[in-house]
Amino acid sequence: MEVDLERLDLTTSADRRGLVAFMTGNPFPFHVGGTPSVREMESRMESGIYDDADHRSFWLVHPELGRIGFTRLEDLSDPTPMLDLRLEERFRGRGLGAPCLGAVTRHVFEEIRADRFEGQTRHDNIAMRRTFEKCGWVKEAHYRQGWPVPGGEAADSVAYAMLRRDWETGEMTPFQGVEIRR
Ligand SMILES: CC(C)(COP(=O)(O)OP(=O)(O)OC[C@H]1O[C@@H](n2cnc3c(N)ncnc32)[C@H](O)[C@@H]1OP(=O)(O)O)[C@@H](O)C(=O)NCCC(=O)NCCS
Repeated sequence: MEVDLERLDLTTSADRRGLVAFMTGNPFPFHVGGTPSVREMESRMESGIYDDADHRSFWLVHPELGRIGFTRLEDLSDPTPMLDLRLEERFRGRGLGAPCLGAVTRHVFEEIRADRFEGQTRHDNIAMRRTFEKCGWVKEAHYRQGWPVPGGEAADSVAYAMLRRDWETGEMTPFQGVEIRR
């Protein structure tokens, strides 16, 4: 089962309205900004964070279920683009995150000259962490108190990545260990 990526065109009112409805109509309990307001969305769209030289946004389209979510690539001019992946609430908890992550990863390595693709999430976002692991992504970092929580103590964050080489070969490149002599 293949999920398709359909690029958002924010010059069209259909995609602008669709994105506002998606972002304001779903809970995002593990995102720093939570569920944004319509006004926040208007300003975010104007700022270019959904579509400019460094960002691309797509609808995630399932062959039977239709549009099931949204993904955004960040830092496209850096050597390591970053992932944002969000399913519509009614499609969460059904194992659909993994084929979506697979489709986005394929896009990055087929369409973008990047050798790494990274995603960060809050340490207690188990569904996202399991999704990374199911897709062969490797946990590379754990940042203590690296995830701001409005009105509360910062949570830890974790970073996972996929290498182009690993994606092509299906094998995991081991970490290069450098011993520190004491
Ligand atoms: C994160 C997200 C993409 C995951 O996709 P999903 O299809 O909903 O993932 P699932 O619910 O199928 O969970 C994946 C796995 O985690 C497991 N899991 C989920 N929550 C769990 C929990 N609290 N404890 C233990 N395991 C859990 C599931 O059982 C499943 O395991 P399996 O593959 O062995 O069956 C989706 O839930 C989502 O869009 N969430 C909101 C936005 C978000 O947080 N995005 C991440 C930001 S990068």
